[in-house]
Amino acid sequence: MRMNGTKVRWAVVGSGGIGKRTVGDLRLCDNAEVVAIGSRSRASADAFAQEHQLPLAFDDHAQLCASPDIDAVYIGTPHATHFALASQALRAGKHVLCEKPLTMTADEARELGRIAAAHHVFLMEAMWMKFSPAMQKAVELVAQGAIGEPRFLQAGLGYPVPPDGPKRFWDAALGGGALYDMGVYTITLAQMFLGELAEISVTGCMRPDGVDLEEAITLRYAGGALAQLATSITCLVPPRGWLGGSRGAIDFQQPLFSPGGLTVTTGRPPAPPEVQELKFAREGAGYVPMFRAVNVAILAGATEHPLHPVSATAAVLDIMQRIQAALARERDAIAA
Ligand SMILES: NC(=O)c1ccc[n+]([C@@H]2O[C@H](COP(=O)([O-])OP(=O)(O)OC[C@H]3O[C@@H](n4cnc5c(N)ncnc54)[C@H](OP(=O)(O)O)[C@@H]3O)[C@@H](O)[C@H]2O)c1
Repeated sequence: MRMNGTKVRWAVVGSGGIGKRTVGDLRLCDNAEVVAIGSRSRASADAFAQEHQLPLAFDDHAQLCASPDIDAVYIGTPHATHFALASQALRAGKHVLCEKPLTMTADEARELGRIAAAHHVFLMEAMWMKFSPAMQKAVELVAQGAIGEPRFLQAGLGYPVPPDGPKRFWDAALGGGALYDMGVYTITLAQMFLGELAEISVTGCMRPDGVDLEEAITLRYAGGALAQLATSITCLVPPRGWLGGSRGAIDFQQPLFSPGGLTVTTGRPPAPPEVQELKFAREGAGYVPMFRAVNVAILAGATEHPLHPVSATAAVLDIMQRIQAALARERDAIAA
């Protein structure tokens, strides 16, 4: 659907933590306007609309999707609700940017991709990490051969979520656990740089209800590259990582999902290494580059963004499903 205006008119769905954080960043984009909130409750919708001065407030997703005053929907609700909310919006002709993970399975992601294509509307998982200036620079440096062939990624992300913390971490029905919430970033990072996946090994801890508490993941790629990834909701795993190549390495500054800088180290011992520090300004809370790029794509009539197509999302979900299955097997073997 090619748009007539110069601004995409957004509805935010979900009046919680991430919804609040993203309104400000959407407003920093001169190709976007935030016009609506969608919530499950009238009181929350009205309170959010008042706080953020939005003209439209809905407590019914079907009504929101039917509104002619909305072009695009940003979905900021717990993981397991994404598929239903996104498919309804896409079928109603709305563009969709949905929080990570896009869906709970690769098949669901591909299904959403088919619906978006059939309705000529845009669909993307809100993988802001890929759009951050630092990550964009890292991609450029690797493409230029600055660190040679990428061979090893080590990355981690996790924090001890209190038992009374956000339900999305602890409720299996909402897609709880470390992997889908935080592991999604480190796996996406590995997929960005290491080529075709060959093998997955994992060890970790999964509760009987399917909520994974922590895991150490090794991904082996067809060309021989390795990724070693750690994630947890019971302990602090510093949000950082590095990518080693045949001629050098790139360190991603904390936080990994929106790095403020890169340290690029090149050279071989015994020569002293050459170290280059690159700093990047953060716009708003860090989502602005992604929002801006998505608005440009929507205004141009695209159904996907080349930096993060649905096929890339589905590939990561496929890996996460295989990891979950392996963790369940490990748990059951220990219990037997
Ligand atoms: N990109 C990032 O930096 C980032 C950071 C945090 C979270 N996230 C992602 O954003 C999503 C939401 O995270 P969050 O921390 O904002 O979650 P949250 O606070 O638990 O939920 C967000 C909102 O979703 C709605 N909601 C809650 N349970 C629901 C249900 N069962 N069905 C439908 N709607 C429900 C509620 O809004 P109403 O009461 O208004 O309906 C709630 O306020 C997750 O997928 C997460 O991975 C991304």
